[in-house]
Amino acid sequence: MSADIGLIGLGTMGAALALNIAEKGHNIAVFNRTTSKTHDFVGGAGDLAGRLTATETLEELVAAIAKPRTIILMVPAGDPVDEQIAALTPLLDADDMIVDAGNANFHDTNRRMRELDQPFLGIGVSGGEEGARHGPAIMGGGPRELWDRVEPVLHAIAAKHEGTPCADWMGEEGAGHFVKAVHNGIEYADMQLIAEAYGLMRDGLGMDADAIAQTFQRWNEGALRSYLIEISGEVAAAHDEATDGPLLDVILDAAGQKGTGRWTAIEAQHLGAPIPVIEAAVVARNMSARVEERARMEDLFGAAPQTIAASDLSLDALEQALICGKILCYDQGFRMIAAASDQYGWSLNGARIARVWRQGCIIRSEMLDDMASALGEVDSPALMAAPVFADHLKATQKALRNVISTAVRHGAPVPALSAALAYFDTMRTARGTANMIQGQRDFFGRHGFVRMDDGTKDQHGSWAD
Ligand code: 6PG
Repeated sequence: MSADIGLIGLGTMGAALALNIAEKGHNIAVFNRTTSKTHDFVGGAGDLAGRLTATETLEELVAAIAKPRTIILMVPAGDPVDEQIAALTPLLDADDMIVDAGNANFHDTNRRMRELDQPFLGIGVSGGEEGARHGPAIMGGGPRELWDRVEPVLHAIAAKHEGTPCADWMGEEGAGHFVKAVHNGIEYADMQLIAEAYGLMRDGLGMDADAIAQTFQRWNEGALRSYLIEISGEVAAAHDEATDGPLLDVILDAAGQKGTGRWTAIEAQHLGAPIPVIEAAVVARNMSARVEERARMEDLFGAAPQTIAASDLSLDALEQALICGKILCYDQGFRMIAAASDQYGWSLNGARIARVWRQGCIIRSEMLDDMASALGEVDSPALMAAPVFADHLKATQKALRNVISTAVRHGAPVPALSAALAYFDTMRTARGTANMIQGQRDFFGRHGFVRMDDGTKDQHGSWAD
């Protein structure tokens, strides 16, 4: 019996994806560099073992799959992907397809598509181990006809939103991996915004972890309802046996990162796309890692007196501020996607992307359903201009402003919330201050400016004389 599909790389995500595929009725041949891992995996697959074929060499893997073959790569991003492709392609027929389902940098995916003669697809898979096993969100990129070949399997294994699979073709070339990177950038920002709210509750209002957990649970019943708010409540509620106290209180405040959020920030700079909330989140992770330096600076300057009177900061205002910051962050993400689509000539569509993000992925939330509708109704990537979100912003921006000013007065760092407000205030200011910058540029470098009154270009000030 031939397998319908093959998979290379039985790490956490690869193994979970293989079981998901088998569970949906597909026979799958699997290969891992360490052979014992392959046999352990199939041996431990219980009822699903009958649909799994363990293979010990790439030749065996290729021979086990029905033609034209589809082989999913789930190996670490970067060189391992190139090495795996180099080892695999000599064994394949011309129409066999490789699907890279790892967290690849989309520039690498573009390059692989250019260089390879083999059909090649790059798909972003989100949802962690649990998602990969029971229903991830899947963002596909590459030739549309290749996506169509593999779509039935991907639809079967993906998360569903009211019956609609959260798996779709995003656009050409590395567009799938690009959209996954923006997803991760937003993931960083959502997490940072939540962490800032947590900080104001812990250090400002002096709330204990239980009270904070309850607040997240309550917020999860309102406009903020989302996977990340839900797990934040669970993280805050977790108990540590060793100290008989909240687990959160013993976790070192230094955030790790594999780099996808950083890629998004770097790419945004290349595109000239403003994503200050995501950038603030990446920077905050970098600063969090400087644990000893922060301790030394606290010794030098003294800790800021962060205690805030309950009369100065209500939990309702904090909730409103988070809603406002979140909308502004997504506005930036969707605009960045539109900028990339223009720059690279892709067919990216904000509404379609929001639909894929509604379930399965880490940033899944009810608000994404509203975003999908809103972006589908307007011919613009500007979420903040869509009527329903413009109304939300009008209703919540005052709370964001109040929360930030309270935080700033008490020395509590809120970089992502502040970046959101600065973005809002900049974007809704028709007459900005870059005329001063243009004057300065012309003064020292005769760079020229445009006159507002008559629209003439390449004008110079009298200082040029
Ligand atoms: C997902 C996650 C996943 C992973 C991130 C974590 O969508 O399932 O984004 O890809 O958890 O890589 O990223 P950091 O290690 O950079 O936080």
